[in-house]
Amino acid sequence: MTLTLNLIGPGRAGRTLAKLLLSAGLCTVQDVLGRNAGSAQDAVAFIGGGRAQDEMQAMRPAALWLLTPPDGAIAAVAEALAQSGLLRAGDTVFHCSGALPAAVLAPLAAQGVHIASVHPLKSFADPAAAAAGFAGTWCTLEGDAAAIAVVRPLFELLGARTAVIDAAGKTAYHAAAVLVCNDLVALLEAGWRSAESAGLDRATAQAMFEPLVRETLDNVFRLGTVRALTGPVARGDAAVVARQIDELQRSDPRVAEAYRALSCIALELARAQGTAAQALLDNVAAVLAKPR
Ligand SMILES: NC(=O)c1ccc[n+]([C@@H]2O[C@H](COP(=O)([O-])OP(=O)(O)OC[C@H]3O[C@@H](n4cnc5c(N)ncnc54)[C@H](OP(=O)(O)O)[C@@H]3O)[C@@H](O)[C@H]2O)c1
Repeated sequence: MTLTLNLIGPGRAGRTLAKLLLSAGLCTVQDVLGRNAGSAQDAVAFIGGGRAQDEMQAMRPAALWLLTPPDGAIAAVAEALAQSGLLRAGDTVFHCSGALPAAVLAPLAAQGVHIASVHPLKSFADPAAAAAGFAGTWCTLEGDAAAIAVVRPLFELLGARTAVIDAAGKTAYHAAAVLVCNDLVALLEAGWRSAESAGLDRATAQAMFEPLVRETLDNVFRLGTVRALTGPVARGDAAVVARQIDELQRSDPRVAEAYRALSCIALELARAQGTAAQALLDNVAAVLAKPR
């Protein structure tokens, strides 16, 4: 059965998903509302269907509503929708924020509307490329059972791999995504800076470390974190760890702090690995605990 879809917030994520749902024959895209008519018209052209509207009240009823304004606007859009009287009990509304739970749509749930969040673990920076490469994307869902029963099959028919998570864990889940994605970028930047402080130029540092970074990531996914860990903490080399903390403390105390915090986790892995003697690892623990 083809569902009618209304889209509010027709930016990168919203227009990509609407295009995919339309192209797969799963939805008929009906009304598209942005902050200004121009972005809605652009989105309609990209999606290949739908009608740009310049005010919420002009939107027609739809079984499915996709809300993809920026995270900070989702609650206000949901509130405005609840005030509008456009939704019918049994309609489904979902947003795509990884940071916010479906409960941000609570004013709609109070009207008998089913609510969910669907977070694709994907960058929509380039909508055409994101649409072409969407199949295989992991999407995490949470919300009420009726909404999940509607949106989960749609995303699976688009080729997504889905996992339903508990709303109570949404912040921890998103923090995990930030740590392994965004903070990994920041960690690499800290590494390039440390190499620069050693006198290497950035391009050389990047070229030198690229194979090491890629091999390490491969090892983590192939062997798991315990077996993939190498380096001074894994070897129990407390003197090297101490010198490196002192050096980073001089060049950038924030990086020294991050090095120390991450080394504490590395130490747990080293203990589980059992390669270095526990006495040597105790020496590393003492270095990491020492105030500087
Ligand atoms: N981008 C990603 O890679 C990605 C990945 C996963 C999840 N998400 C989620 O997807 C959602 C949208 O992100 P995005 O990156 O697609 O944002 P975006 O490209 O900035 O697009 C946001 C859209 O919302 C419109 N808008 C802003 N305020 C609005 C309002 N009050 N009412 C109606 N429309 C409004 C904007 O219109 P104007 O153009 O006129 O400002 C724009 O069309 C967010 O919840 C985000 O967390 C994004």
